[in-house]
Amino acid sequence: MSAELRVEQLRKVFVTGHPPVQKAAIDTVSFTIAAGEIVVLLGPSGCGKTTTLRCVAGLEHPNSGRIVIGGTAYTDPAAGVLVPPRSRNLGMVFQSYAVWPHMTVRQNVTYPLRARKTPRADQARAVQEALALVELAEYADRPVTQLSGGQMQRVALARSMVYHPQILLLDEPLSNLDAQLRLRLRDDLRRIIKRAGLTALYVTHDQTEAVVLGDRIGVMRDGRLLQLDTPREIYNRPADLFVAGFTGATNRIDGRLLRHDADFAIIETRSGERLLARLGSGLQDGAAARVALRPDNVVFAPAGDGPNRFTAHVESQHYQGTQTVYEVTVLGTRIEALEVGSSARWEVGAEVTVALPPEMCWGYGP
Ligand SMILES: Nc1ncnc2c1ncn2[C@@H]1O[C@H](COP(=O)(O)OP(=O)(O)OP(=O)(O)O)[C@@H](O)[C@H]1O
Ligand SMILES: [Mg+2]
Repeated sequence: MSAELRVEQLRKVFVTGHPPVQKAAIDTVSFTIAAGEIVVLLGPSGCGKTTTLRCVAGLEHPNSGRIVIGGTAYTDPAAGVLVPPRSRNLGMVFQSYAVWPHMTVRQNVTYPLRARKTPRADQARAVQEALALVELAEYADRPVTQLSGGQMQRVALARSMVYHPQILLLDEPLSNLDAQLRLRLRDDLRRIIKRAGLTALYVTHDQTEAVVLGDRIGVMRDGRLLQLDTPREIYNRPADLFVAGFTGATNRIDGRLLRHDADFAIIETRSGERLLARLGSGLQDGAAARVALRPDNVVFAPAGDGPNRFTAHVESQHYQGTQTVYEVTVLGTRIEALEVGSSARWEVGAEVTVALPPEMCWGYGP
């Protein structure tokens, strides 16, 4: 049954090249996934997502740290413990559709139960349940080669869930699908995993996928876990500039920290105007400060009075039908601002008032 996963101080070093160089693919990564929870590891290519997942699966042997599943250590090099992958009872879904091409849907999904010598009557029931869960019951007797990519991936999912694994591991399972299928299966995946009550570790470099699927998101960079939080926390209180930028807060406004209280800082910007920003890591009075701001948190022509209102100059307008992306100069800096709606109200050259909501301006040290 689904179990808690604990990853403790995990470190994996690869040695490559001539002369050989050591590089930590993951460096003291620790996190816990509660039973039945979905955690998504999000980060750019090469940050160590797959390596982390493979360590949990037992396919990769870490140099140090522990993998504890349901209270039992499965990987613990210091104690000489390394349970082989087949004895971990985990489910795995990968990018490529790892289905048996010469088998029907039912035969594919039955396969792991036969390998586990599950009694026949139980096999049939479990397969029926798994196929119903992924909505492929009526395709049971089709050869898998006659399925679409999305359907094949659902077969792979059913096959990795049919034996009720302790943990479900998914490595970019949607990345081989075309855009439309990808969106559909993305929404289905969370429902399917939740309905099955599985603990899941899901790896992707797609922020939207992470937000839609995860109960919590772990943002990784260069082998380190920078922040593990709910999607709302990640999107509204990023721990540092990298997390802010990777999740779409791409605007940067530079200045100098004048003073701060417990939650907010006053930052003198290049234009000499003062910006009120949330206090983040690495800030010091009198020192350089950098504010991250999402384009979609810039408010044009705000109603009423309020803090952080500035005059902005519209430099460019990119009309996208249901939204418009502007470049504006404000506080001596060029930033992007997004306005939702089909009207595109501001022309190039216009002077507009914008509000930068203080709780959406995140100040960090440089
Ligand atoms: N078998 C290996 N031998 C040497 N280096 C490796 C090996 N596997 C991974 N690495 C290196 O470890 C780092 C992390 O790789 P990993 O595959 O975990 O990244 P990732 O986050 O999954 O990236 P992607 O999004 O591209 O799949 C990379 O620098 C990679 O080159
Ligand atoms: Mg990978």
